[in-house]
Amino acid sequence: MLDVRKVSKAFGTHQVLKEISFKINPGEIIGLVGENGAGKSTLLKILATIDRPDSGSISLNNMDYIKDNKTIRKTLGFVPQDIAVWEDFSVEENMIFFEKLGWVKKSKKILHELCLDMKLDRWKEKVNTLSGGMKRKLNLAITLIHEPGLLLLDEPTVGIDLKSKNEIGTYLKNLAITKQTAIIYTSHDMDEIKKLCDRVLCIGDDPFYEEILKENEKTVITL
Ligand SMILES: Nc1ncnc2c1ncn2[C@@H]1O[C@H](COP(=O)(O)OP(=O)(O)OP(=O)(O)O)[C@@H](O)[C@H]1O
Ligand SMILES: [Mg+2]
Repeated sequence: MLDVRKVSKAFGTHQVLKEISFKINPGEIIGLVGENGAGKSTLLKILATIDRPDSGSISLNNMDYIKDNKTIRKTLGFVPQDIAVWEDFSVEENMIFFEKLGWVKKSKKILHELCLDMKLDRWKEKVNTLSGGMKRKLNLAITLIHEPGLLLLDEPTVGIDLKSKNEIGTYLKNLAITKQTAIIYTSHDMDEIKKLCDRVLCIGDDPFYEEILKENEKTVITL
């Protein structure tokens, strides 16, 4: 489904990604781990078409990232590390705004249910009165409106309480099974990675990650 071939990216003289290659199948949940500054967000931004690699190529469902850019964008959902929602709008207004921006039409009832699935029950409240964790839940709900085939989540559960985190994890697992959504997920919470992910990609050759994940019989691929 997703095929990343020899992707490299540098910022000035700082080489962040060095000829990274991997493939992901539909319905797979992939953990992306590595220390601060390893290049996880850089890779996700490239996969989300927000940034471009210096070299290498990427294809999604046999479509090329450069040639078929518009169609690829429609297939993607991205939750950035920094929350991106409208602070002066209510939860309801945010959901309706982002629904209108897209191509898949959803009723207000379904939009509301999506928020409840993400354990967010503040439908009428203004976003600037919500906690950080609640805003993150809203960001997740917004990304799910258009039923992306590839979901890119950059630390989506930072600041989210353990109970909601588990429930969101169960929801994402179910989404991967029932809709064959492929999910790439970054987190510094190894318990979450162990529970949720089928395989783990590790940026950098720090043996630390490999050791803890191998204990759990996870397949770890070093990029
Ligand atoms: N726009 C940019 N300009 C210059 N350097 C950048 C830019 N974006 C990222 N970098 C650098 O690239 C490296 C990788 O950053 P990135 O944000 O991808 O790391 P990360 O693995 O997501 O880290 P974290 O776990 O802290 O989120 C860092 O050294 C960062 O300073
Ligand atoms: Mg990051």
